[in-house]
Amino acid sequence: MASIAALSSLSSEHQKARTSDGISSIKTFAESNDVVASIPSSYHSLPPDDDVVNHLADSIPIIDFSLLTSHDPQIHANAVRELGKACQDWNFFMIINHGIAESLTEEVMKKSAEFHNLPLEEKKEFKDEGLFAPIRYGTSSHSQEEKVHYWRDYLRVTTFPEFHFPHKPSGFKEVAFEYTRKIRSIVRELLQGVSESLGLEANAIIESTNFDSGFQKFQVNLYPPCPRPDLALGLPAHTDNGFFTILAQNKIAGLQVKHDGKWINVNPLPNCLLAIPGDQLELVSNGRYKSIWHRAMLNDRNTRVTLAIANGPPLEKEIGPTPKLLEEEEPLFKCIKFRDYIELQQQARCVAGRTLDNIRIT
Ligand code: OGA
Ligand code: NI
Repeated sequence: MASIAALSSLSSEHQKARTSDGISSIKTFAESNDVVASIPSSYHSLPPDDDVVNHLADSIPIIDFSLLTSHDPQIHANAVRELGKACQDWNFFMIINHGIAESLTEEVMKKSAEFHNLPLEEKKEFKDEGLFAPIRYGTSSHSQEEKVHYWRDYLRVTTFPEFHFPHKPSGFKEVAFEYTRKIRSIVRELLQGVSESLGLEANAIIESTNFDSGFQKFQVNLYPPCPRPDLALGLPAHTDNGFFTILAQNKIAGLQVKHDGKWINVNPLPNCLLAIPGDQLELVSNGRYKSIWHRAMLNDRNTRVTLAIANGPPLEKEIGPTPKLLEEEEPLFKCIKFRDYIELQQQARCVAGRTLDNIRIT
């Protein structure tokens, strides 16, 4: 029986971690001493019979960014071809030689962990107040209605076109500014390469979507060690909504991507970035390049921290298949404002399934 004595022996930090509607920080909860070998049943979310294969992990495409940006036309053209192939065959790739110093990534990672290490009381100021709030700290998914919970805490911040950021810990804002701007320019290059690989002018997607005023979201995910990684998930299977999410992690593996119907464990190369094509890429490419299903697995030893930088079109911009592509093919999707798409995704997530199917022309 859970006695009053047992309850009152919980640390005060743990008490604070629980709000009337559940647990407001899984980190605080996981650190409390009553979690030893069991987790609340509301965290049981891992489908029991999913196929995970490992032999394909080595064939994940690797894009050398320095070749994509080469001024030598032949080298550039080859890199564009590789990029197109990666988008087509895998809808996922690693980026090496991307030009972001490892020390910068590590600094952002360190400050991100410091943010999550702040007492819960200090993070309340940034509490998630809804889908489009510029700074949102929370746990699990942001949805109030969720019945199943996920073993992660998050901080989500809008960093473009306006740069918002928490004022603590000190120095966080500065490194995040530099990091997110660099990621934006990498994504810009990727979109140029994608356009070219589709036989379009390099700037076709950037111009038709107004990418240069596009929405960017900085997200830190923190996954504490979980005593039952066989039952819980950090993040359920989903696709991202923008063009590309660029992911970095603190050397602790956990990302799985779905390829040919099987889950693949991703073991990134040192100092590489992971490029996750999202639904807007599928939309602008009229279905030629698909967004990828992915999820975050847990482990029972190490805290995993990931930086997931989402890059999309402007919130108010209506997006559809790139007009130039429609000179030769029928549109597969209707146009939709990015803001409406994000809202649709939240609703769709509650009933599961693919958000893009809601705007597919049948
Ligand atoms: C995300 C995401 C994966 C990870 O934040 O959208 O898919 O491994 N993250 O943290
Ligand atoms: Ni994702």
